[in-house]
Amino acid sequence: MSMASENRTAVRTYSRTARALHWITMALVAVQVPVGVAMVYRGKTLNVWDKLTGALYNGHKLVGIAILLLVLWRLAYRFTRGAPPDEPTLEPWQRLASHFNHWGLYLLLVATPVAGYVGISLFPALAIFGLFKLPGIVAPDKAAAGTAFVVHMALAIALVLLIGMHVAAALFHYFVRKDNVLGRMIPRLLR
Ligand code: HEM
Ligand code: HEM
Repeated sequence: MSMASENRTAVRTYSRTARALHWITMALVAVQVPVGVAMVYRGKTLNVWDKLTGALYNGHKLVGIAILLLVLWRLAYRFTRGAPPDEPTLEPWQRLASHFNHWGLYLLLVATPVAGYVGISLFPALAIFGLFKLPGIVAPDKAAAGTAFVVHMALAIALVLLIGMHVAAALFHYFVRKDNVLGRMIPRLLR
């Protein structure tokens, strides 16, 4: 790649770090949601509280906290380094919609794990694989834990809906509008 085209690519795409954080977040969320649904189905619906259900709960707590820490790092990086300027062919409404979508995703990527963590602090269910205990972030209150988990589920559903719109938009830009939006996160796909 010549220096000029490299520079052009650099301002059009997210940095290596921003891209790595984006795709690691995606991979973790892609594990986290089905594990959350499966553990609640096994435990609460089927009333099977065996080793597997326990492992799914413990794994869900650990991965959830990893997502929270990763997103806080990502937000700090985003606020200090910014993002490349919007793809130039976007309509004004698309700019607005994408900014709402992206900041909504960030908001839910913080709020969903915080609600889960508040829930296990209230319950309390802070032990991880019997090896160590997470620090509680609020005082135990079993009755309130149920509410926190309902909020946690509602936030997770909202997150999945926004991700659905986000992925649909990325594919729409790539296959229908044939612009460079997807290339911003996958530079190999720049046209
Ligand atoms: C982005 C991160 C997270 C996502 C997307 C997520 C998603 C989910 C989903 C989809 C469920 C199933 C909801 C249901 O069927 O009731 C669930 C349940 C649960 N999550 Fe998370 N979660 C995240 C982070 C966390 C964290 C950080 C914790 C705790 C440290 C946590 C603790 C729980 C618990 C204890 C349940 C079971 C609630 C119940 O028994 O009703 N989650 N989560
Ligand atoms: C868990 C799933 C995902 C989450 C939480 C997520 C989250 C985000 C966030 C917060 C941004 C804004 C970045 C910023 O400006 O700081 C973003 C940008 C982007 N994401 Fe995702 N993403 C996910 C999955 C995907 C997938 C599967 C694709 C591709 C099919 C994708 C393609 C893109 C693209 C192309 C951008 C740049 C858009 C632009 O700047 O105009 N994302 N993503």
